[in-house]
Amino acid sequence: MKLRPAPVSAGGENPAGGELSVNRRQFMRYGFNTAAGVLAATLGALGFAAILLPPSGGGGGDSSVLYWAKGREEEAWYGAKHLQPMMKSDFESEAANSNVGTAGAQGVWNGLPVIVNYVPHAENSGTPVADNSPRFQEMAGYDIGGNYVGHATEYLLGNPEVFDPNNNLVMSFARCTHLCCIPGWQLVSNSFTDDNWTPGGGDDGGTKMFCICHSSRFDPTAIEVNRNANRSTGASFEYLGIRRAGGPAPVGLPIIPIIMNGDVIEASTDYTGWLTYCD
Ligand code: FES
Repeated sequence: MKLRPAPVSAGGENPAGGELSVNRRQFMRYGFNTAAGVLAATLGALGFAAILLPPSGGGGGDSSVLYWAKGREEEAWYGAKHLQPMMKSDFESEAANSNVGTAGAQGVWNGLPVIVNYVPHAENSGTPVADNSPRFQEMAGYDIGGNYVGHATEYLLGNPEVFDPNNNLVMSFARCTHLCCIPGWQLVSNSFTDDNWTPGGGDDGGTKMFCICHSSRFDPTAIEVNRNANRSTGASFEYLGIRRAGGPAPVGLPIIPIIMNGDVIEASTDYTGWLTYCD
């Protein structure tokens, strides 16, 4: 495999203080190159490619998160908001239509595909854990070899800016850790995407992100520390993410830290080294 240097910022420095960083051009490349190839080679996914692939520029500035509903303007609850900024109040309104109070939307941030999920954690975390009472679960994470990497609770004690469960929102990088297709939020209907929830971060119950290429599932309520590697350089990195619940994907998806600007959902660029595994 051809070795390439680890990505750094345009200035050649590492502004994240130990985390790799990517500049805007690299953002766009990570958003397109491998996903387009895999999707094009997967006949059943062709119809989804135009739906899922984000625009090259992302638009709206580096921190903005925009709805992405191309091709689903009529069916997605956020269809009329395509390329408009994501608002927390939109998710709260849509969650009222869910049996279990959750909502999710495909998005684009800096040209990258993302998924934002609303989970009624603050409302449910004070009650006993039970089916159909979703909340975020901080869990132990294991790498592809089954080795313990770390626990989300311990990680968040030192890095509370990465994820706030009481904000009821989580944003995940939407590139599958299997072969880099783009998982979707309720783009298909099956037992993994049903409007229900079971605790434990396992593969039962719905409310999962589903990757149509080879059926990997990810649980946006199961927060864990994990480890992945850049495919070109082999450089490994640890990250806070959401759990891989089933399918061929080896590990979960990285979280992109949300920054609230009033009601507007924005995101931090401080952890972009976590997003390089498809390069
Ligand atoms: S690329 Fe997602 S399951 Fe294979």
